[in-house]
Amino acid sequence: MTSLLEKFELNRRQLLMERSSPGRIGTTLLPLDVPESELPDSAILREELEMPEVSEGDLVRYFSQISQFNFSIDHNFYPLGSCTMKYNPKLNDEVASLPGLAQIHPLQPESTVQGAIKLLWELQDRLAEITGLVGVSLAPMAGADGELAGMLMTRAYHLERGDTQRKKVLIPDSAHGTNPASAAMAGFDVVSLPSDADGNTDLNAMRAAADDELAALMITLPSTLGLFDTNILEVTQIVRDAGGIVYGDGANLNAIVGRVRLGDLGFDVIHSNLHKTFTQPHGGGGPGSGPVIAGERLVDYLPLPIATRTGSDNNEYFSLGTPPKTIGRMGAFHGNFGALVRAYAYISTLGKEGIPKISEDSVINANYILSQLKGYYDLPYDRTCMHEVVFSARNLKRDHGVSALDVSKRLIDYGIHPPTMYFPLIVEEALMIEPTETESKETLDYFIEVMKTIAQEAADDPDLLHNAPHNTPNTRVDEARAARRPNLRWRRES
Ligand SMILES: Cc1ncc(COP(=O)(O)O)c(C=O)c1O
Repeated sequence: MTSLLEKFELNRRQLLMERSSPGRIGTTLLPLDVPESELPDSAILREELEMPEVSEGDLVRYFSQISQFNFSIDHNFYPLGSCTMKYNPKLNDEVASLPGLAQIHPLQPESTVQGAIKLLWELQDRLAEITGLVGVSLAPMAGADGELAGMLMTRAYHLERGDTQRKKVLIPDSAHGTNPASAAMAGFDVVSLPSDADGNTDLNAMRAAADDELAALMITLPSTLGLFDTNILEVTQIVRDAGGIVYGDGANLNAIVGRVRLGDLGFDVIHSNLHKTFTQPHGGGGPGSGPVIAGERLVDYLPLPIATRTGSDNNEYFSLGTPPKTIGRMGAFHGNFGALVRAYAYISTLGKEGIPKISEDSVINANYILSQLKGYYDLPYDRTCMHEVVFSARNLKRDHGVSALDVSKRLIDYGIHPPTMYFPLIVEEALMIEPTETESKETLDYFIEVMKTIAQEAADDPDLLHNAPHNTPNTRVDEARAARRPNLRWRRES
């Protein structure tokens, strides 16, 4: 016998097709007020196609219920390292929905969208100021797209100088996977650079690799280990002395924004993940925005379009221009315009005083977690961290057979999104925790308490963790198969 509570749970998990009842409809069609027309060729109409027959109420309930199964930053704490899942102020959405911004078309004449182009121009200007570089293209649609743009610009720069032998791009072994992928897509040979025992770039390896075949170094600052590379000035100098380009992966800008400008450290070109540092609801694949920002050596190669201003304050005119040696377009039109508007709204809201608070609070929050969880989880690099802290669950694995995956799955039971796991690849059983600046001390304390409890549970009852999560509609799924071979078709069970 199914108990009432079991029945409730089963009903809640029913798919739409399973809620179907023959003849039930959810729409009220108005009388036809246009001429009736023939249906298309009957050969392409499928009589046997099963459609859900549900009422409007059933439909609303279904979608509202499954929306609750999703995990989002608006629901709970989301310390997903390297992703900067900070709270996205609703004001940004309001600004992006203003009809003058949301209802314009990219093919409209420039003279009718002056405000929108001015917004792009001002955003470019602010990003250049924040990063200490000189030119910005807002066109790339994501961080990886910005990386590809930067690598194509690097290639164009070397080719123009006749440096055709410069094919090598150095990338630290802690890098995000998109870095080598972008360099390879732009036609370069990727060479991995080791980190030293402190998590900095290994300077000896760097010097040995910096020859006349060097096209660029692609480096993330702070690194994906959550550490500020204390060798960075030497590193950028070695690359520049060897005639290479210094590319900065700016995905971790949250840690330094308002305090350190990559342009001042010798970087030639960077991208910024606006959807991370400058807020934009992201995850699940989009939408993002990854402007590419260049110094003097690469500014002429930026992708188009670039917003430009002519005239003076009272008589200004904005247009979309093309840099003299541009690598071309990264996609259609001007990039992800809605994401750009949100970033603009966020930067304007915070202003010059508010921006440094981002990095200050995000770094303090991560170090608070570091100090409280040290001793419970292994800390592979025992240093002050930046905006994220990378722990290792190898102590739990060694002592109790509990992995980073088990810890992550158990966190879900406590209403917390798992941290990034098994990345960076050089940290065994990695748990990469990025609290962001938008979380309160109470939330951090709850997280710390949960993490300590889980460490204790690992010792007392490892299977509790092996079988977690316990309170979700699905427990452990084959994640690789779900991503590569998703089963999106409903079939009636025979
Ligand atoms: C360090 C780092 N670089 C690059 C990227 C790529 O950014 P996107 O996902 O916007 O393509 C990410 C994304 O997580 C990242 O963490």
